[in-house]
Formats: sequence, C-alpha cells, structure tokens
Amino acid sequence: MKSSAAFVLLGALSIATPLLAQSASDHVALPDGYRDGVHFSTYERSGITEELFTSPEAIAAAKAGEPFPEGTVITMEDFRGGELYRVLVMEKRAEWEGVSQSGSWRYGVYTPDGKPNLSENLTRCETCHASASDKDYVYRRDDMLDD
Ligand code: HEC
Repeated sequence: MKSSAAFVLLGALSIATPLLAQSASDHVALPDGYRDGVHFSTYERSGITEELFTSPEAIAAAKAGEPFPEGTVITMEDFRGGELYRVLVMEKRAEWEGVSQSGSWRYGVYTPDGKPNLSENLTRCETCHASASDKDYVYRRDDMLDD
C-alpha cells in the first residue's frame, strides 16, 4: 500500500510540474561576452530590429553544411522603437535531446539589464523552433553563410 501511495503522489507531482512557476535555472545562461562573438545578421520586421550573434565555430559549421557543434549558443537582441526590449538565447547540448521539443536546444529570455524574464513561456520557444528542424532549429542559419 505504501508504495502505491508513493506512485500516486509521483504521478500527481509530474502532472503538476508543468504548472509550477518556472525558475531562473530554466533559462539557458546569457553569455557575458556574447557581443564579442560573430554578429552574423541584422533582421528587421514590422518595427522590430533583431541583432544576432554566435561563435566562429557555429558559423564554420553552417558554412560546411554541418549541424551546430555541442555547446553552441545563439543570442538575439530584440529592439523595439530603437530601445533594447529583451535578449533571447538558445543553447545546444546533447544531454537535452529528448528533454527539449526542438532537438537538443533549450532557451532563455533576459531583460535589458540581464535578468531572466520568468513570465516568458519557454515551451513556446521549443514548439515554434521545432518547425526549423531542417536548419538545426535555427531559423536564420542561412544568414551565417556570408559572414
Ligand atoms: C512563433 C514562432 C517562434 C516562437 C514562439 C519563438 N521563436 Fe525564436 N525565432 C523565430 C523566427 C521565425 C526567428 C527568425 C528571426 C525572426 O523571424 O524574427 C527566430 C529567431 C530566434 C533566435 C535567433 C536564431 C534563429 O533561430 O534564427 C533565437 C536565439 C530565438 N529565436 C530564441 C527564441 C526564444 C528564447 C523564444 C521563446 C521566448 C523564441 N525564440 C520563440 C520563431 C519563433
């Protein structure tokens, strides 16, 4: 009886977990020096300007037509009306394969002063980026080809 009660409790916890408030550790880290990496694109759409950065190794992989290497981080600044509004990050690690809904990538969102924004829905990042599986989940991958 004891063990079945434990199972019921575990089941209830696993159902409840997605409903719990997220914590800062759900967000992949914002690298301090991301602006020192390769600025591979400025992308504009309807009042939003995005500045995209990554590592030289990621650029080399895109040019070689290979998947991004382990530990790749891509950072995107999101400007609205000329002001930095938020910074989006995605990071690739083999250990997240099967945990993430977009390959082995996880996500994070930071306020302009570098704090994780706990009101952003990180599951949405994964489900939408899943549609870019043919580009290793990176929508602007082709922008890396001419850097
Ligand atoms: C509805 C689809 C959608 C959702 C949701 C979404 N993205 Fe994206 N993301 C895109 C598209 C499309 C681009 C390419 C740039 C653009 O169109 O603005 C992009 C670009 C990016 C990039 C630059 C690398 C790339 O893929 O080109 C990062 C980093 C990023 N998103 C992180 C995030 C994070 C973090 C979240 C969750 C807060 C998120 N995205 C949610 C569609 C989405």
